[in-house]
Amino acid sequence: MALVGSAVGLGNIWRFPFLVGENGGAAFVIIYLGIVFMIGIPLVLSEYLIGKGAQRGPVGAFRALAPQNRVFRHQGLLCIVIGFTILGVYNVVSGWVLESLVESIKTGFQGQSPEQISRNFTDFTSSVWKPILYCTGYMVITSLIVGRGIEKGIEKWNKILMPLLFAMLVALCINSLTLSGAGDAIEFLTKPNWNQVTFQTVLDALGQVFFTLSVGMGIMMTYGSYVRGSENMFRSKATASVIDSCAAMLAALMIFPAVFTFNLEAAQGPELVFIALPNVFAQMGTGGWIASVLFFGVLTIAAITSAISIFEMLVTITIEELKASRRNATIGVAGASLLLSSLCAWSMGVFNGFDGLVNKFLLPVFGIMCVMFVGWVLRRKVVEDIFTSQGRYSLRIFRVFYFIVRWVAPVAIMCIMLGAFGVI
Ligand code: PHE
Repeated sequence: MALVGSAVGLGNIWRFPFLVGENGGAAFVIIYLGIVFMIGIPLVLSEYLIGKGAQRGPVGAFRALAPQNRVFRHQGLLCIVIGFTILGVYNVVSGWVLESLVESIKTGFQGQSPEQISRNFTDFTSSVWKPILYCTGYMVITSLIVGRGIEKGIEKWNKILMPLLFAMLVALCINSLTLSGAGDAIEFLTKPNWNQVTFQTVLDALGQVFFTLSVGMGIMMTYGSYVRGSENMFRSKATASVIDSCAAMLAALMIFPAVFTFNLEAAQGPELVFIALPNVFAQMGTGGWIASVLFFGVLTIAAITSAISIFEMLVTITIEELKASRRNATIGVAGASLLLSSLCAWSMGVFNGFDGLVNKFLLPVFGIMCVMFVGWVLRRKVVEDIFTSQGRYSLRIFRVFYFIVRWVAPVAIMCIMLGAFGVI
């Protein structure tokens, strides 16, 4: 549940639909799903396995498992850079969610025209102080939760929240499918137009898979390090990844009918969800008011559970490496990430720069290093024992997994990156 809580968040509901819109629909969805199964799940398993084997968080894990290896020994430090950069962007979008929640409570978007909704939201994001203010409010809530310690913080929320979020998504999907643009939306999401696909599209899909599965930055390692004893690792991680993809698909089915019904621009970028959904609420009458408050309320908390997992990792590293107290570590991480978030909130250029840096470069680089570490640095027997809990589970799946992490995943990630950066 902690894993699903980290994975399901703004990546599914905010980022996935806008990338689908920008990359022409169905072809992107198909490539995305292919990458989830071929690279995403093996990567989740690799990271988790490293953490479980070492019983340490990302910085300590590589050092513990490969003390002599010069290349990999310090790899964990990359997590710090990635963690802060993602948090910088994530907090800003969470601030947008919070603003939408406040707007929902105040008006429920009732009686607003599509133009008005677009204008209100772009006015908000382009103002200087408001986004920073909302993002600060959001950071304070997250810090308070993390400051109080992991179990109390994370676990409690996820068990109630995830089912609620799914229920909301399904209900809104059904509602969206009754809109007049539903047919066009389904065609957009199921009929691929391969002409639009470039290496950039594939890199976008790859980055999105990393982002949405919370992989490529040590989160899974942190979770793995808490777990002892035998378990069917493949089953739980594959299930969590499939649940995560279902949430993304539901989000797309909820949003695109609105895009086509209200003549919105599918490729408008990061603001898509925040403009498309209020249009649905606006035409639902009083029910729309309730639905919008509930939806943005649940989304606020889903964003918090994801952000907590990054925050928690950075706090753990600070405590371990700098021997700081939890309180000081929390304050330090919150302060530093707030500074980065303010920069992102202040300029869309910085925002897009950070987003691109992480998703198109840092996450894939870290990911490739993880699969190489599992496939080539650790001994096969060690990996097999952790993966199968000493031969108890999934031996046959292990062979497929091992082949993927040794050959398929590193080569595929490398080719996609080189292709997108114009090297091949
Ligand atoms: N996976 C989360 C989401 O989809 C975001 C996230 C990324 C969380 C990286 C933790 C680490 O919203």
